[in-house]
Amino acid sequence: MARGRPVFVCQACGAVHNRWSGKCDACGAWNSIVEEASSAPLPGGTSARALGRGRVVALESLSGSADEAPRLVSGMAELDRVTGGGFVFGSVLLLGGDPGIGKSTLLIQASAMLARSGHRVVYVSGEEAAAQVRLRAQRLGLGDAPVALAAETCVEDILATLKQSEPPRFVVIDSIQTLWTAQVESAPGTVTQVRASAQAMIRYAKTTGACIVLVGHVTKDGQIAGPRVVEHMVDAVLSFEGDSGRDFRILRAQKNRFGPTDEIGVFAMTGDGLEEVHNPSALFLGDREPDAPGTAVLAGLEGSRPLLVEIQALVVPSTLGTPRRAVVGWEGSRLAMVLAVLEARCGVRLGSHDVHLAVAGGLRVQEPAADLAVAAALVSSLLGSPLPLDAVFFGEIGLTGAVRPVAHPGPRLREAARLGFKRAALPPAAAEAAEEAGLTALSVPTLDALVARLAARADQTRMKEA
Ligand code: TYD
Ligand code: MG
Repeated sequence: MARGRPVFVCQACGAVHNRWSGKCDACGAWNSIVEEASSAPLPGGTSARALGRGRVVALESLSGSADEAPRLVSGMAELDRVTGGGFVFGSVLLLGGDPGIGKSTLLIQASAMLARSGHRVVYVSGEEAAAQVRLRAQRLGLGDAPVALAAETCVEDILATLKQSEPPRFVVIDSIQTLWTAQVESAPGTVTQVRASAQAMIRYAKTTGACIVLVGHVTKDGQIAGPRVVEHMVDAVLSFEGDSGRDFRILRAQKNRFGPTDEIGVFAMTGDGLEEVHNPSALFLGDREPDAPGTAVLAGLEGSRPLLVEIQALVVPSTLGTPRRAVVGWEGSRLAMVLAVLEARCGVRLGSHDVHLAVAGGLRVQEPAADLAVAAALVSSLLGSPLPLDAVFFGEIGLTGAVRPVAHPGPRLREAARLGFKRAALPPAAAEAAEEAGLTALSVPTLDALVARLAARADQTRMKEA
């Protein structure tokens, strides 16, 4: 291959520059530009194409056969839920996550399930030796599953191996960062290599109809390293999250061409590998303390699945000039908004208090329906008065202080009733749904109304104690 002029490629976004510089103009990252040996074009071009002559391709109509995309169902319900009902044939999925979170474990388990149900499965590990993968599989009781195992990092060798026998239905590449192709000269792990290798695997998937899962590592700031550029090329991006200090793991779809992106799958890491958690509310509610002020249960929704989680707040007088605002598992800007509305519309002064907010169990909540539960937890902590143990909260708070309706109150309330809750503080529009679910509705038209109710309750308890 002819050696081109050296190029400088940003390892964060893949932008190509003529000169080295400390900062990438395209994405603003610092120290991310690396010299790569060659400006060779990406593989795929043939000499005919290079000369400008194209091959004629058959054009099709939209009205052709449009069956539901055929899918490969893994049999792990939590995984299938996140992929949108199984892996789509001919698709490529990128699985990202911190090192040690359990990506390889999840995929060896899924591979074994698929292989046991008669599909041809190839697991290619570029990080661990075949013996290590085998050892882990045996320890997980999967030693008997007919998974074909290889430890290889060269794309050409992998493709030659795959093409040599009956085409596999499911291929795992662990990980994309270790792959390299002889088509480009850059070092393994660079953007150019990762992109060219991913392209070769994608082309293989599209031509053979195999489902390919690429594992990608995540950098400190949460991006799938290098393969940010790969995210655009693949059909789906899943992320595997969780605290390594805790046992449960959450699988979340960030992008999915063939399914929803708001579904989550919940697993628990045990001594025997990943176990599916079919009843996550029980897990996230954990052991609730009856007399702890500052905790409120959110009747939340993740995708189509209702999920009850405990929101914990701690409001304490601050010793700092600028009080601290710390949030775990929720958006900081959303907290700032709730605090501003509490201050401006309800007269709750928090300007000289530190505020700490956490979603119990390490879950990350994204929906605005959490506003009301957050506000209740904050006010409860400030008053030093616990909220009723049998109540759940949900509702979006507007800047005017109005509590707005949220999507799908029914499933939220039914889940709350199933877990033994008796009351729900909610937007007035959802009151009927609460009665239907067998809960007492506490309609809160405005945040002010909730604050007044909580303050009255705190007074009552204080008088009873006196
Ligand atoms: P692994 O799948 O190797 O993570 P990744 O591929 O994302 O880097 O998981 C490694 C971690 O999982 C390791 O810290 C040990 C833990 N683990 C268990 O707790 N139980 C098990 O059965 C297995 C296989 C791993
Ligand atoms: Mg691994």
